[in-house]
Amino acid sequence: MAQFTKNPPLNESDLPPVPRALLERWLADAVAAPMQEPTAMTLATVGADGTPSARIVLFKGFHEDGLTFYTNYESHKGLDLAANAKVALVFWWDKLERQVRIEGRAQKLPEEVSRRYFYQRIRDSQLGAITSRQSQVVATREELDARLDANEARYQGADIPFPTFWGGYSVTPALVEFWQGRHGRLHDRLQYRSKGAGWIIERLEP
Ligand SMILES: Cc1cc2nc3c(=O)[nH]c(=O)nc-3n(C[C@H](O)[C@H](O)[C@H](O)COP(=O)(O)O)c2cc1C
Repeated sequence: MAQFTKNPPLNESDLPPVPRALLERWLADAVAAPMQEPTAMTLATVGADGTPSARIVLFKGFHEDGLTFYTNYESHKGLDLAANAKVALVFWWDKLERQVRIEGRAQKLPEEVSRRYFYQRIRDSQLGAITSRQSQVVATREELDARLDANEARYQGADIPFPTFWGGYSVTPALVEFWQGRHGRLHDRLQYRSKGAGWIIERLEP
């Protein structure tokens, strides 16, 4: 049975007044750990019929205090988000025995922000984004590869056109819980709950 002892306890007196400051510190610790995918987070969405769905996406920085990620707007998650902006995010850093849970609302990033990010990515990623009809059923792998080859040939020596069905979301948190594993299973859980312009900090039982 794992005994969580990697980090010092999480005390109320250590907490900055806003959750973003602590999240940035914990992300930096995860990057330094090092870990294979320190910015990987589980994104849970809810469809129009109330069905929940979760998958991993990569955190790509903050936009006006919202957590950003990039995806296909017509994917399963994209359709969920068009129907219901409420989401949950979870980071789990095993080496640090830390979890962060977030609840909030997702909104699309301004197109110029997504466009800038799209052209910072390597060309193969750009081609992948325009080629994949993310979350659709495809008959065979060959069909997908053929579509990629066709796009490669079509745009050889030219810029890949920016796909308007692709871009970022920013998740504005209303609740952020920091979980630090402790020896003996009485783990530390400190939660920031948004109230008015500020945050209320509460300790939760483990
Ligand atoms: C480590 C990891 C990172 C991923 N990052 C992203 C990402 O940033 N954006 C994305 O759209 N999908 C990402 N994926 C793929 C998603 O988990 C998922 O398969 C895809 O987005 C389709 O999800 P959907 O059908 O629920 O919309 C990642 C998967 C893994 C395992």
